This record gives sequence, C-alpha cells and structure tokens, in this order.
Amino acid sequence: MTSRIALALGFSLAVFSAGFASAETVWLDDLNLASAEQGWGEPHKNQSVDGHALTIDGKKFERGFGTHAESTLRVNLAGGAQSFSASVGVDDEVNKNPASSIEFIVRGDGKTLWKSGVMHAGDAAKNCDVDLAGVKSLVLEVSDAGDGISYDHADWSDAKFATVEAKSFTVIGEPKLVQVAPYILTPPAPATPRINGADVFGVRPGSPFLFTIPATGDRPMKFSAQHLPRGLKLDADTGHITGFLKMKGEFTVTLRAKNALGTAEKKFRIVCGDQIALTPPMGWNSWNCFAGAVSEEKVKSAADAMVKSGLINHGWTYINVDDYWQNNHDSKDPTLRGPFRTAQGHIVPNSRFPDMKGLADYIHQLGLKAGLYSSPGPWTCGNCTGSFGYEQQDAADYANWGFDYLKYDWCSYSPDMESLRGNSTNYPMSAGSWSGSTPSGQAELMKPYAIMHDALAVQKRDIVYSLCQYGMGDVWKWGDQVGGNCWRTTGDITDTWKSMSGIGFNQDKAAPYAKPGNWNDPDMLIVGQVGWGNLHPTRLSVDEQYTHISLWCLLSAPLLIGCDMTKLDAFTLNLLENDEVLALDQDALGKEATCVINDGRLRVYEKELEDGGRALGFFNLGVEPLKLDFKDFAKLGLAGKQHVRDLWRQQDVATVNTTSGSLPLTIPGHGVMLYKLTAAK
Ligand code: GLA
Repeated sequence: MTSRIALALGFSLAVFSAGFASAETVWLDDLNLASAEQGWGEPHKNQSVDGHALTIDGKKFERGFGTHAESTLRVNLAGGAQSFSASVGVDDEVNKNPASSIEFIVRGDGKTLWKSGVMHAGDAAKNCDVDLAGVKSLVLEVSDAGDGISYDHADWSDAKFATVEAKSFTVIGEPKLVQVAPYILTPPAPATPRINGADVFGVRPGSPFLFTIPATGDRPMKFSAQHLPRGLKLDADTGHITGFLKMKGEFTVTLRAKNALGTAEKKFRIVCGDQIALTPPMGWNSWNCFAGAVSEEKVKSAADAMVKSGLINHGWTYINVDDYWQNNHDSKDPTLRGPFRTAQGHIVPNSRFPDMKGLADYIHQLGLKAGLYSSPGPWTCGNCTGSFGYEQQDAADYANWGFDYLKYDWCSYSPDMESLRGNSTNYPMSAGSWSGSTPSGQAELMKPYAIMHDALAVQKRDIVYSLCQYGMGDVWKWGDQVGGNCWRTTGDITDTWKSMSGIGFNQDKAAPYAKPGNWNDPDMLIVGQVGWGNLHPTRLSVDEQYTHISLWCLLSAPLLIGCDMTKLDAFTLNLLENDEVLALDQDALGKEATCVINDGRLRVYEKELEDGGRALGFFNLGVEPLKLDFKDFAKLGLAGKQHVRDLWRQQDVATVNTTSGSLPLTIPGHGVMLYKLTAAK
C-alpha cells in the first residue's frame, strides 16, 4: 500500500508584520528577522552576525541583514512585491579567512530566481536584482557552498523590496516536517526463487568457510552449486556452504535455488586470498537497542529473528554482541559483577553469557556469523573488561569460541600506557587510574589497533576487524595499514534527523578510501525499536528512514541493524529487505558515493556500480516537498540515453535523453528518490 496520510501540518508560529518607510520601498531590515534559521550566531538587523557595521570588501552599508550560513529567511509577499535588490557578500569581519565560502540564493514560490555563485572573503559585493512580479512566497538562502559553515558570515546589504502600494509583508518561521504514516514502497519478493546478496565473497586460506545462499521464494527450496572448489560443501536443504579452502585462488561458482515454482541461478565469485569483507558487512548489533542490558537470550532471539523474519534471505549475516558481555567494575547489577580474568589471563564473560562457544555455535548453525566487542584500554566505554595487555589471549579466545567479527573501541586507552605493557601487575583495574594522555600523532593512534590486528591475524579464523575510534586522525587514511576492514568515521549516532543527517551528509572526505575490504562506517542503523536499553520506535520520520537506508547503501557503509529484532514491524522489515537497494551497498566495485550536486535543499549523491550503471540519490534536506525537473546530467558525468529505475519501488520509470530531456522529481521533505541509471543501447 502506498497511501500517504498527512497527520499534521505544522508551521511554526511567529508571523510578524512589517512596518515600512514608504509605499514604494520596503526594507528587509524592517521585517522581523528573528525567525531566520542560521547555522551559527543570531540574525542581525543592520549589522553583521558578529555585530559590526555591514562591510563587504571595504565598502560599508547602513542597512541590511547580517546572517551566517546555512541561513534561510522566509518572507510571505502575498504577490505584493515588484522586485528585490541587495548587495551581497562575505562580511570583512572574517579577515579574509580562506575557509569562508558561501552562495546567496533567492527562491520564489519554490523556483530558484537568482544565485550569486560561490563567494569568498574579500570578494566585492555582488548586486542581486530579482523580478518578483506575482511571487507569493520568497526564500532568501545562504548555503555553505558545500565546504562546511566555518567563517561563513553573510551580508544581505541594502536589501529592499520595490512595491507599488503598501503591502503587509511577513516573515514566517521555518515550517515543520509533515508527519506521514508509514508507507511501504518495496514490493514483496516473488514466490519463485531469487538469489540475492553480494556477488563476491572473500576468505583466507585455511579459515573455516561459512556462507549462506541468500534466496527468497517459497519453501521448501533445494540448493545446488556448480564448480564449487574442492574443500567446500553445500547443504542442499539449508543453502549453507561450509568447509575450508587450502590454497589462494578465485573461483566462479554457479549457485542454484529451486522450488516448486521454478529455478534461479546466479554467478558467485569466491576469492580465497588475504582480504575479507569484500563487500560491507551486514547484520545486527546489540548496542542501539539493548546497550548495557544485553544477554545471551537476547542475542539468540535476535539470531532467531534474523532467520524467521526472512532477513537472512537478503544477505543479513552478522549477529554482533556489543559492550557488556564482560564483567563490569562499577555496576550495581550483580549479573555484571565477577572476576575480570582467570589466573591464566583469560577474560571472564559475565553471568549473562555463561557459554560463549555455545552462543557462537548456536548462531553458526542458523547460517549466521557471530561478533564481539572490546576496547584497547583496560576498560571498555561501558567500564567492562578491556583488552589492554591481553590482546593475544583475547584474540585467541574469540577465535576458539568461534567469533567472526570484532568491534574494537578506543575508550580508556591512552598512549602513556604503552610503557607498562608486559608488566601485567601494573595494569590499572579501576577507571580513572590513568593520566589519559591524548595521542599526538598518527603512530600513537595506530599502535593499539596494530597490536590487536597482529593478534587476530595469527588466528585460524577470519575475524572482520572494525575500528571504533570515531574518525580520530582521519582513520580512513590509515585504517587499512592496521588491518581494519571498517572504521567509524564519526561519534555515536542517535535516532534524530540532526544526528543521522549530520553524519550521513558529511562523509565525502573519507569516500575515496573505501574499497573492497575497507569500509567507512558512519555508525549503525537507527530504524525500528531502538533506545539503548529503553526501547521506543525510532524518532526518525518515515521519509527520514528511507533517506537513512538509501544514504547508508550509497555510502557503502557496513549495515548493522540496531533495533530489537523480535519487534520488527512491517514497515521496518520492508526497509531492510529491498534487494535492489541493498545491492548498491553490496556492489562488488566497492566505490562510495559522493555528493555531486549541493544546491540549497537538494543533495545529489552518485555511486559508480560494477555493471557500469550509476546509483543516484536525490535527497531533499528541507521539510517541504521539493519539486523539480532535473536536467543537470552533465554534472553527473552522464551522456546519451539513460534508463531510469526507481529502486525503492523496483520499477522502471523512464528513459531520458540526457542532452535534451529532464527527469521530473517530487522529493518528500527530508526524503529521497533513489534511482539507478543505466546507459540505453
Ligand atoms: C562507544 C561506541 C558505541 C558502543 C559503546 C559501548 O560509545 O561508539 O557504538 O560500542 O561504546 O560502550
């Protein structure tokens, strides 16, 4: 059902009338500017954002509006203005700081009427002169020109309207997002067999092999595989491929899935070599839902739900236990209290995790993989036992238990600990016992990750290595040198638009470093019932959730579901089982999308795909629907005729001639249109 119900149409509040000088001229500064939205500071009348006289390249202006990118001022003209004029530029108060770059934009009734082009500090003021005949609603915007808002002090100097008669212009507050009821876009998978998931899988020689053929369609289903390399075997009923490969090499296998209605076939590449995680890991992690309340039963239930919900048939694989499987040094909860390590130095799981090997075995027999969490300091972020000084033992224990993934945090580590390494009697056993020196350079940041990597590398097991140090020292530039398969690029996400969009739309800097085996991690998914021990439905709107999943897939991000898997509703499930959307994330080329167009509310993200196609995400960062006829195909590097497929709806929508044609788009507030473009023959 694609019915969309508007539940509430909210506009925030304040409406202010103008008092103005004459019937012919209405000065912008005579309107109430307090409702302007801006990225920093307060809106100022007749002054710059820092409270100085408005000055652009040495020229002073008596009147105008001093603001800061990203800035939006909405004026209701009710068709009463003839024109708008201003002299715009960066205010001299930024002292020619090179970080300052902005663009002034005038929009009328949803159309772009004028743009200044990118302006820098020291540029002479530009004249803005815009015809407003008939325009009812005017928006004055200042964008950060795509490089962040630092030093973006913007002046709309001498800004005024020409009008034929005295009209009451009003400034209106930022409209609020219209909340819509969940609407499902993805058609159900057909009853006939279909093999989904990545086209490639990496394994190291000698490591236990486990891959479950992800296939949708009615059960019972029989699986077979042609040209499966020696050492591997397939269970025809479950689709689980297990065994070992002794030698390096590449093998192209034909996978088949058959049910009463038909047979599906897919070519699948197994690469036995040094690299694993050839596509971003997909699975579940306990943190965003359970945080410190995780237990073995909850993890097993999540694994069961991964199978029962059918998500396993779309490539979802890992079941990862985050913090709090170890004992804790300051919790009042007796289930978390106990010895940290045995006399031999083995880590002791807390009483909620009585059998780590049993847990990993349980997850494996379902065809899934198991993950764990630790920290390079003596304590994790939640004050549980960390790995400092015991890295080899911990890595060996993880491998012996059968874990396949390690998320390795940063908490409580500091470089000055290194002098104590090897002298375990001096390891601190209480938080705060370290002076906590901060790392001064890349070598110090790399050190603890390299130590754990070396410990993992000698295990006869493939363990995906996920670094979690929030992007310090541009981890994307060196994460692969310490064996990282993925690395967090940011602090922790939470379930708000500000958090998700703030992270998701700021990943370009790291994008060139993504490749098979190395992924930038903008943190885990926040759809469904989340809450860090206090479950509630995600606070993201429906369209914000489509944006979240679309963007994470475009960014080739590790996809770790963060919700309670036993409480998946139809909408959330639908978001997570669109194979065409997930295929962007799992594309074997491993290129991360970047923002190719940043125009006011519109962001266009483009990702190159292995088959020569391009994935395009058209995102609307504004709260009102954005309607446009998209023509800028040259900016996307696209030529000729292109087939356009809507990936959420799984429908072909058009064939566009990129030189003369256009693509009509209506993008919901905070929402997305996600397309794949393929050259037409
Ligand atoms: C850090 C990480 C989170 C989570 C917690 C556990 O905050 O960024 O993802 O692992 O630690 O304590």
